[in-house]
Order: sequence, then C-alpha cells, then structure tokens
Amino acid sequence: MTDSENFKSKITIYVIVCWLLAASGGLMFGYDIGISGGVTAMDDFLIEFFPAIYERKLHAKENNYCKYDNQILQLFTSSLYLAALFASFLASKVCNKFGRKPTILVASFFFLAGAAISAAAQRLWMLIVGRILLGMGVGFGNEAVPLFLSEIAPVKYRGAVNILFQLLVTVGILIANIVNYLTSKVHPFGWRISLGLAGVPACILFLGSIVITETPTSLIERGKDVAGKNILKKIRGVEDVEAEYEQIKMASDLASQVKHPFKELMKLHSMPQLIIAIMLQVFQQFTGINAIMFYAPVLFQTVGFKNDASLLSAVITGIVNVLSTLVSIVLVDKAGRRKLLLQACVQMFISQVVIGAILQSQLQTTGSLSKGSAIVVVLFVCLFVMAFAWSWGPLGWLIPSEIFPLQTRTAGFAFAVSSNMLFTFLIAQAFLSMLCHMRAGIFFFFAAWILIMGLFALFLLPETKNVPIDVMVERVWKQHGIWKRFMVDANEGSRYSEHNIA
Ligand code: BGC
Repeated sequence: MTDSENFKSKITIYVIVCWLLAASGGLMFGYDIGISGGVTAMDDFLIEFFPAIYERKLHAKENNYCKYDNQILQLFTSSLYLAALFASFLASKVCNKFGRKPTILVASFFFLAGAAISAAAQRLWMLIVGRILLGMGVGFGNEAVPLFLSEIAPVKYRGAVNILFQLLVTVGILIANIVNYLTSKVHPFGWRISLGLAGVPACILFLGSIVITETPTSLIERGKDVAGKNILKKIRGVEDVEAEYEQIKMASDLASQVKHPFKELMKLHSMPQLIIAIMLQVFQQFTGINAIMFYAPVLFQTVGFKNDASLLSAVITGIVNVLSTLVSIVLVDKAGRRKLLLQACVQMFISQVVIGAILQSQLQTTGSLSKGSAIVVVLFVCLFVMAFAWSWGPLGWLIPSEIFPLQTRTAGFAFAVSSNMLFTFLIAQAFLSMLCHMRAGIFFFFAAWILIMGLFALFLLPETKNVPIDVMVERVWKQHGIWKRFMVDANEGSRYSEHNIA
C-alpha cells in the first residue's frame, strides 16, 4: 500500500498559480455573499425596484428587532442560493463527464453574464435573472473548485490548499463590504457599481480557467492516462510519480465500473460520507454565520450603532474573518480537522450565549444598548467569526471534498454544495423574521445547534488529515468504530464485488 510519504512532490510556481486562479471561484462566491445585504439597504436601490418597501421603511415604527423584516427583500438575497442548489447537481454531471476545468469555465460565463445583467437591470425581472445566473455560477464554481483543489494538492498540504478557496471567499466578502461602504455614497447608481464590480472576479476566474490544468484524477478517470501522468509530473515538479499515479489509476478503475454515481451514493457503504458531507454543511449554516455575514450592519444598528459605525463594524468582522482563515491554513494539516472543529464549538457557543444574554437583558423593543455593552457585543461577534473562520467555514468545504471515493466524489460533493445552498437560503430568508419574533432568543437557538454539532464532531467525525484522498475507504471509514458497520458491502481491499457495481 502506498502512502503519502512515498508521493514525491515539489511546489512549483505553476501549481501555485493554478491553486490561486482556481480558488478565485471563492472570491466570486464571497463577493456575492457580501454584496447583497448592503445593496438592499441602499435607498436608491429600493426606490428603483422596491418602492413600496422604501415607503414602509420611511414610516416604519421603530422596533429594534423588526426594523428590516421583509420577506421580499430577503428573497432577493436568497434567490441566488436556490439557483445554486439546483445548478450544483448539473455541475456534478459536467464535472464528472468533462472535467473540473471546463466546469470552472462554465461557472465564469454564468458569473460574467450575471454581473452584467444585474448591473444594467432596468426592471425587477432583470435583477432576478441576474441573481439566478450568479447562482448558477456559484453552483458550478463551488462544485468544481474545492474538488479541483483537493485533487491537485500534495497530500500533506491538501487541507491548506483547499482552504485557499475559503480564504478567497472571506476576501470576497470583505471587498464587497468595503465596496458597499464606498458606493452607498454614490447617488443614484452606487448599487449598480456594487453589482457590476462582480465582473472583476468573474474575469479573473474566466482567465484562470483557461490557464489552469485539468486534475490528473479527472483525466485518468476519463481514460486519458498518458495526459494524466504527464500533468501529474508537471504539477508535482518531479519525474517519479509512479506511486501516486498507481493509486489514482486504481481508484479510477474502480470508479469506471460504477455507471450511476447517484445510485451508488444511495447504498449503505456510501452513507457515512454522505451523512458527514451533508451534516457538515447543515451545521456550518446553523452556526449562525450568515446572520452575521448578510446582516452585520443591520445587527450592529440593532444594538444601537449609527449607520457608519455599523458598516465599519461589518468591515472589522470581515477582516477578522480573513485573518482567522489564515490560521486555519497553517493548522489544518498539523492539528487536524477534528481539533479545530471542537475548539471552535466551545468558542462559538460561549460567544452566542454572551451576545444573547446581553441583548436579552439590556435591549428592549425600543432604545439601544449602552456604548459599553454594544462594544462587548461587537467583540463577541468577532470572537465568534474568528472561531468559525478557522473551523466550520473552511472545513465545511474541505472535508466533503476529500472523503468520497472517486466513483461518488462529484455526486457526493454536489449534495454538500446543495445542502450548503439550501440552508444558506433558509437562514438568509428567515433570519430577519426570526430576529423579529425570537428576539435575543435567536442567539440561544444557534448556541443549541453549536452544542449538537460539537457532539457530532466528537463522536461521528473521523480524522482525515494526511490520508491520501484515494484510500479514504480503507484507512478511514473501515477503521472507524461506528462507520465501519456501514462498510460491510464496500469493496474488499481495492476490489468491488459484482453486486456493488450499478
Ligand atoms: C460559508 C458561507 C459563509 C462564509 C463566511 C463559507 O464557508 O459557506 O455561507 O458566508 O463561509 O466566511
């Protein structure tokens, strides 16, 4: 059995360029996450597309917790995630049949078209079409980019390389917050600049998708063995790639016997990976992160900051998000995945409880928090974001991209992407209403989820650090106290028995 120590590799300039260019799919995703909250808060935008909401906003009676509760506006933000949900399944087919590189190229087309239509929108339907196109881009990009990164990374750095995706997500969110801050002062078309600037990361991704290589795994899986081996030599920067090539070849021989990956995914031996992939994404969203990413300015206004101070606080949380993701890049392949997730649960739990307790005891329907308490709230929001950013944020993408065997990898990962989108949609759609009805209780609600996910990580999540991606079944799933029971019909050694092949 080969293992990671036998895989020779150097880090070449070309491979670093490939990592960064592909990871710019994350920039696009992050920009989309960060931009819409600010845009929907701009009066010029509301007057043009949602005049009734603008009127209501002018005459709204002040209620701290319900200032911004509006389903239609929330739908504008969240429609992108619905489109992405469906697109990710289509993307998984494209990814499987044509490869990771073309899937990333398609994503960039959707992004370019979506940015152009949104920025030029004259009518509401154009805006919605723009959101849907961007959502298709997210579906394609988020399916292909994390897989691309995990497959192309040397095993010892797989965690770090994969997290480049999340790093650029956080950079995208931060840039979007800063852009909104600046364009909100440009009347009456600042919002067009905000939406149109999405074209910049889209162009980077488009050019990137031309420059990057296909992954050796995808080439070999599609029968292009020689090309696959040559690319492997190129990205590893060494001639002797035999051990790694053999492992990929073996995995792809197995994969080629499975004609229906989605059917294969429904079998007992695929359940552990599927459950983990889906639950990590569900839990990621139930940390409550997007309550903060989408609505930080609103939240900060809720605790009593003025407009500018709120936007500034949102920028601060954005910076914390980026910097803490760097911590994850450094630690993930050393400390491992589980430790980061568990440590973060403790920190996030305490943060949510403290924020909830302060609001519960001090923030009534009207009035605001004392300056001291408001600052404590911002501080705990930062501690929360910090913990998320080195754990459930990046690992929600990394772990599902590395745990599936090749035969179910793209299909399984599509479930992870679509679960992320579904629950992002639900939180985006529901958060402001929940804040309005549950008030401070919403923070206790998230805290309870954090407790559950901590237990899940403790008992059900195996460690995948330093395990080569194509031997996960043998080294991880068949060794795990609970999940090994699901592996009864999985391949022995590296052979699938006839009845396992769909
Ligand atoms: C999540 C997003 C979130 C972002 C915050 C990503 O991993 O999928 O929903 O907004 O992290 O940095």
